[in-house]
Amino acid sequence: MPESVPNAFVELEDLAFHEGVPVLLRRALGPLKPSELLEVHGDASEFVENLQAWCRKEGHAYRGAGKAQGRHLIEKGTVDRSVTRPGPEVKEAAKPAWGLAPRGAAVELGGPEFSFPLRQKREVWGQELHTIYSRAASNQWAAAKDIPWSELPKLPAEVEGAVCQVMTFLTENEFAALYVPARFLARIHPHYREVSAVLAMQVADEARHAEAFTRRAEEGGVGLGTTAASSQLSLQTLIEEPDFSTAVFLLCVMGEGTFLSLLKFLEERAPDPVTACLMRLAHRDEGRHVAFGMEHIRYVTILEPARRATFAAAVERRSQMLASVSGLSPYVHDALVVYCGGGVQPAQIRRGASFVADLHREMDRARRERLQALGFSGQDAEALSAYHTKNFM
Ligand SMILES: [Fe+2]
Ligand SMILES: [Fe+2]
Repeated sequence: MPESVPNAFVELEDLAFHEGVPVLLRRALGPLKPSELLEVHGDASEFVENLQAWCRKEGHAYRGAGKAQGRHLIEKGTVDRSVTRPGPEVKEAAKPAWGLAPRGAAVELGGPEFSFPLRQKREVWGQELHTIYSRAASNQWAAAKDIPWSELPKLPAEVEGAVCQVMTFLTENEFAALYVPARFLARIHPHYREVSAVLAMQVADEARHAEAFTRRAEEGGVGLGTTAASSQLSLQTLIEEPDFSTAVFLLCVMGEGTFLSLLKFLEERAPDPVTACLMRLAHRDEGRHVAFGMEHIRYVTILEPARRATFAAAVERRSQMLASVSGLSPYVHDALVVYCGGGVQPAQIRRGASFVADLHREMDRARRERLQALGFSGQDAEALSAYHTKNFM
């Protein structure tokens, strides 16, 4: 009988069913096609009865004893447990049914469909994501152990007050920078896990910044200052942006890009070593957030150059929504002047105001440079930089 020639054989010796026989049977049947035969040999007691029951349960057919003593034949059933293998490479579109499967894994068919709205590579991707994530993972710091809190001097009251007001402003911006990636994180298909991983690190970074800046305000004995209505309005227009790439452009390129200039300035002009250390560490983290923004927007605009116009329109729209806001909040502006001027004497104010004017020019220069690196013309870069919110983020 040619049909009884087995296609595979498995030796079970005296292994009992409850000791793991199904593991070896499934391994042996896995590569076979439906209707092919597996010959098994087993010596355990009640082996045949258990084998027959298992075959019925699993949808295979028990075909009786084999030619030799203790041998039995199983015909592989047609129960559809097939899998799809999307492969390890990053696809242009991810299927809802791949769900939470790691990229490169086989996915058993018949699972649920997941509704991740961002499931096209062109919507989320960028180059260098792995490098940005690796740098983030190895550069984590902790407010409790990496900041020299014991070196905080007793500053003049007006300077300490200015530091606290600046910390308040920074912290409200940290919340915005935390909520924007957090909102999109759960919408991105896990197939693009590098994007989710970078955003997750960004969320963790912002949580740490908020904690550390708040602690700096409290550590000097003065505590937090005032959150301005104009800053809140500016940040609201940022965190409510519904499109992922536009939100990345507004936050990571325009906002955090501007913050790079601010943090560097605050480090160089810091009145104490604790504040300087905080600014330096936050600046390093923000450099990665800006790098992600630049990579993502570069990827998107290379594929679709017309998107530059939609990003520009978003900056302009935001500027119109903020038309009632005439400039940087006086709370923040005045605090910056005192912070870098070193006090409230007229000469100190003159010095501080001059430094702050330099800061605005440097922010504008760096924004234009970044925009031109993304393919905006010099004229467009100049206009967009001018439209950018006066509240920096
Ligand atoms: Fe931050
Ligand atoms: Fe950030």
